[in-house]
Amino acid sequence: MVTVKKKDEIKRMMVASEIVSEALEEIKRAISPGVTTKLLDEIAEEVIRRRGGRSAFKGYRGYPATICASPNDVVVHGIPSEKVVLKEGDIISIDLGVVYRGYISDAAITLPVGRVSERADRLLRVAKEALFRGIAEAVAGNRVGRISHAIQSYVESQGYSVVRKFVGHGVGRRLHEEPQIPNFGAPDDGIRLKEGMTLAIEPMVNEGTHEVVIMEDGWTAKTRDGGLSAHFEHTVLVKRGRAVILTSW
Ligand code: MF3
Ligand code: CO
Repeated sequence: MVTVKKKDEIKRMMVASEIVSEALEEIKRAISPGVTTKLLDEIAEEVIRRRGGRSAFKGYRGYPATICASPNDVVVHGIPSEKVVLKEGDIISIDLGVVYRGYISDAAITLPVGRVSERADRLLRVAKEALFRGIAEAVAGNRVGRISHAIQSYVESQGYSVVRKFVGHGVGRRLHEEPQIPNFGAPDDGIRLKEGMTLAIEPMVNEGTHEVVIMEDGWTAKTRDGGLSAHFEHTVLVKRGRAVILTSW
């Protein structure tokens, strides 16, 4: 069932979003060569606890950490580890969900570590722009497919591919609510959006093939061809005319 949120629910999601944004901001400041993804997880944990929230990811289907930290060819769901040490030229996706008084917000950003190649930088720019083109279609009266199509057509026009295996989603009381929001499809696909729906829109953009492979840990999703991948996500509130972006980074 697709839910429309009440004022009070939206308020809680706004606070959850503030916490997500603050944690991402602190992580951003900490990212540099030599830092482990485990440390980034601890930073998020600390911010979330200080602000009275909790991780929406830890324990979700057995996921073991507070954030997902996905370097280079890892598309999503990289598990933070002492063994993953960032190095100059890497790109790193950080995905983070927070529950505040029963309501969830979810966001992700891909960041450069030190100076990165023009090739990596271009991928980041296109993936970020793809998210904003999707958000521009997240208005009351449009079908979900408008978001999907805007993202896919832009990404492919830039010579990249969109991941099919993972999709955006409704968010609120649960991390994954209806509707699913694929990053590919036709403009007339899916349900019509209504004012008050809250959505996590999250394009994952690959340099090469859209195909992914899941590692032995059951979580880490890498590009099949070893190409780079970038991921940007915002939680948004659907309105007439224009969506309100609840998260910030
Ligand atoms: N932003 C991702 C999603 O909405 C992160 C989920 S990670 C998990 O699917 F650990 F919670 F599964
Ligand atoms: Co999400």
